[in-house]
Amino acid sequence: MRLVEERRLGPVVGLGTYGTFRQDIVLARRLADAALAAGTTVFDSSPMYDSEQALGAGLADRRGTARVASKIWTSSLEEGRRQYKAQRRYFGRVEIEQVHNLVAWREHLGGWIEEERDAGRIDRIGVTHWSSGSFGELEAALETGRFDTVQIPLNPLEREAERRILPLAAERGVAVIVMRPLGGSEGVRLRRAPPAGELDPLHELGVETWTQALLKWALSDSRVDLVIPATSRPERVVENAGAGSPPWFPPEARALVERLATA
Ligand SMILES: NC(=O)c1ccc[n+]([C@@H]2O[C@H](COP(=O)([O-])OP(=O)(O)OC[C@H]3O[C@@H](n4cnc5c(N)ncnc54)[C@H](OP(=O)(O)O)[C@@H]3O)[C@@H](O)[C@H]2O)c1
Repeated sequence: MRLVEERRLGPVVGLGTYGTFRQDIVLARRLADAALAAGTTVFDSSPMYDSEQALGAGLADRRGTARVASKIWTSSLEEGRRQYKAQRRYFGRVEIEQVHNLVAWREHLGGWIEEERDAGRIDRIGVTHWSSGSFGELEAALETGRFDTVQIPLNPLEREAERRILPLAAERGVAVIVMRPLGGSEGVRLRRAPPAGELDPLHELGVETWTQALLKWALSDSRVDLVIPATSRPERVVENAGAGSPPWFPPEARALVERLATA
């Protein structure tokens, strides 16, 4: 039984937590403060990132205004249940529970995640993969109709999901969460800002910086719901949040960002 009839999550900017604050509760709190003040309320985590406990502590009394999207990352059902139990300790509940990198997705789904969703302790069930090499299996997972969200990489230099996952997600009413919207930790080239003046045509669309242009580029695809850029700097959380409201890019603005990204 689906609990969420309204399938869209956005379009909004969330916050990724891979490789940023890890167990640093003070930094987690500063980032959560900046995010919530800027209207960023969805936080993506995973047992893989070693960030869940600090995120839970960082959100603390503001938990009611935040939505946590975490993951289960193990081939063992028993370990999956243990990860979930730990998440309930850190967060109280998990709004979006995702199967990380498709690991044992059938087993976790039928074994316990759907049961938790049906009992009202999880709002949405998701699935993720970082590699287009696994999009075949991701498609098979979405075809079952049992997932509410899918998380994939998408930025002007990584566009395979546009061809394979976004159309299927739109057809199935699955909300799309974009990881690596700024090219990931190794995406230094993508994040290098174009020469001054090149972004001028985007100012009237609410964009002041190159990273905002990249985030708005993804959110302006009507099939995308949520981008989750990660940063360890509170001022960048605020900058990134600035990309999360209309006006969205028309095709010419998206084409400009693509041209600048590949120049
Ligand atoms: N399910 C999966 O397999 C999977 C895989 C990868 C990622 N994810 C999720 O997706 C999230 C995002 O992906 P990601 O962290 O790989 O990559 P990303 O968000 O595309 O890029 C993160 C990098 O961008 C920099 N950055 C962020 N905001 C910036 C700004 N305004 N100006 C300049 N640089 C900026 C950060 O550096 P600073 O810290 O120095 O700002 C960091 O090095 C992850 O945190 C995670 O939650 C999931």
